[in-house]
Amino acid sequence: MIEVKNFRKSFGSKEVHKGITFSVKKGECMGLIGGSGVGKSVILRSLIGLEKPDSGEIFIDGEEITRYNENDLVEIRKKVAYVFQGGALFDSMTVYENLAYPLREHTKKSEAEIKKMISDQLGEFGLPAAEGLYPANLSGGMQKRVGLARALMMQPKWILYDEPTAGLDPSNTRKIQEHILKLKATGITSILVTHDMPTAFAVCDKMSFILDGKIAFEGTLDEIHQDKSGIVKKFIDGEG
Ligand SMILES: Nc1ncnc2c1ncn2[C@@H]1O[C@H](COP(=O)(O)OP(=O)(O)O)[C@@H](O)[C@H]1O
Ligand SMILES: [Mg+2]
Repeated sequence: MIEVKNFRKSFGSKEVHKGITFSVKKGECMGLIGGSGVGKSVILRSLIGLEKPDSGEIFIDGEEITRYNENDLVEIRKKVAYVFQGGALFDSMTVYENLAYPLREHTKKSEAEIKKMISDQLGEFGLPAAEGLYPANLSGGMQKRVGLARALMMQPKWILYDEPTAGLDPSNTRKIQEHILKLKATGITSILVTHDMPTAFAVCDKMSFILDGKIAFEGTLDEIHQDKSGIVKKFIDGEG
């Protein structure tokens, strides 16, 4: 379970988060929706301790993490995968090396075990031939899939997706949706940051909409469809 309570953060004189509260139950996928610059990525980064709110609390499995030290945060980052906007692959490493990196860094697995895990994972993602390629030689869609594949190497309990379909064509978007749904079926808890509303509707159980530093609306898909306030419609029409 992930809980964010009264999250506030300013950059300089700009108050970005004015008290954001939401929770995600085990096995749920929550959409965190909002226009560019409303602070979605800052919230995701704060969930793994890469940033801290000025005030407010973040609970992961009941533990408040904003006061964690770097060592404790390393443990959190093993369990909570962050699929970065753009994949964030290491450009100087092959796909194989990129996937091996977290395992070599954080586990004592043998190279033979690592090799087997990578070949299984790349098979799962339809990328068996990509092992020896460098990120620069991959299409945008492949980079995003490799980024997701790498995030899964540590078998996380939680996944934070930061705009995983941004810039993708419909076929690659569908592939990412299928992976998210498949992972959800295994019981993984996730947060999907996006403004790709069709994807949000395809994979999320519920959504929270950020507007002007606050959650302007939250609800299940049914509640979203029935929203009479007009807030959700604005987001769907791209005016949110
Ligand atoms: N390190 C930083 N320094 C200064 N301003 C920042 C920093 N990180 C984020 N911001 C500001 O916070 C706001 C929210 O950023 P971000 O979370 O990246 O938005 P989103 O992901 O919703 O597009 C932006 O307006 C940005 O200018
Ligand atoms: Mg962002």
